[in-house]
Amino acid sequence: MKVSSEERADALEERLMKKLAPSVRRGAGVLFGGLTPRGDPIELKPLAPMPPKPTLLDFFKLRFMPHTVTHMLQSASDALKKGEPEDTVLGCLLHDIAINLVKVDHGYWAAQMLEPYLPERIIWAIRHHQALRFFADPSVGYEYPERYVKIFGEGYEPEPYIREAYERARKHKWYMDARMITVHDLYAFDPDMKVSLDPFVDLIGRRFKQPKEGLGFDGSPVAHMWRSLIYPDNPL
Ligand SMILES: [Fe+2]
Ligand SMILES: [Fe+2]
Repeated sequence: MKVSSEERADALEERLMKKLAPSVRRGAGVLFGGLTPRGDPIELKPLAPMPPKPTLLDFFKLRFMPHTVTHMLQSASDALKKGEPEDTVLGCLLHDIAINLVKVDHGYWAAQMLEPYLPERIIWAIRHHQALRFFADPSVGYEYPERYVKIFGEGYEPEPYIREAYERARKHKWYMDARMITVHDLYAFDPDMKVSLDPFVDLIGRRFKQPKEGLGFDGSPVAHMWRSLIYPDNPL
C-alpha cells in the first residue's frame, strides 16, 4: 500500500509525541481507526464524563490525548519563553488539537474547529503550519527537520497540494505567523521539559471566545466536531 509522505510525516509526529507519554490513552481520537501509526492496537480507557457546558480547558484536561497536550504545551512554552506575541503563543498552544480527532490534514481540521472562537489571523497560521513544516526558511533558522530526512530519505517530495499550499502561503501577509508555529514545533519534542497548562489559562480566558452553551452545543457549524470528541463512541 502506498503511504503518502504527508501521512508518514504525521505518523512520525504522532510517534514522537507518544514517546512523551507512552502508556496513556483516553480513547478520543479513535473515531477513524483504532491502531497506532505503527499498527499496534490502541489501548482504550473509559472516558471521563464532560461537564454539560465544556470549555476549551475541559478538552485539554479530559479529552485531548496526553501526548498531544504535552507537545502543544512544550511548543507554546517555548514561544512564551522567547517572547513571541500572544497570537503566536496561542497558535502553538492549539496547532495540533485536531490530531485528537483525525490525523489527515490536521492543520486544516484544527483551523476549522477553532474558526468561530479565535481571530482570523491565528486560524490562518494554524491551517498553514501543516504545509510549511516541510519547507525550510533560513531567515528564521528553520531547517528541513533532520527527523524527516531519516524517515523519508533524501529528496522526497511532499504531495502537490501541500507544495501548492506552501507556495501560496509564502506570499501571504501572514506567512510569518504560520512559520513561527513550525519554528516552535521543532523544540516541542523534549521529554525532559516540564510543562503545565497554568501559564496559559489567563491567555485562553482573554482571547478564546468560549461559547456560553459550551463547545459542541453552541449551534456553530463546527459544534459536531467538538461533540465527536465528547462522544467518540456514540453510534451514528
Ligand atoms: Fe502539526
Ligand atoms: Fe506540532
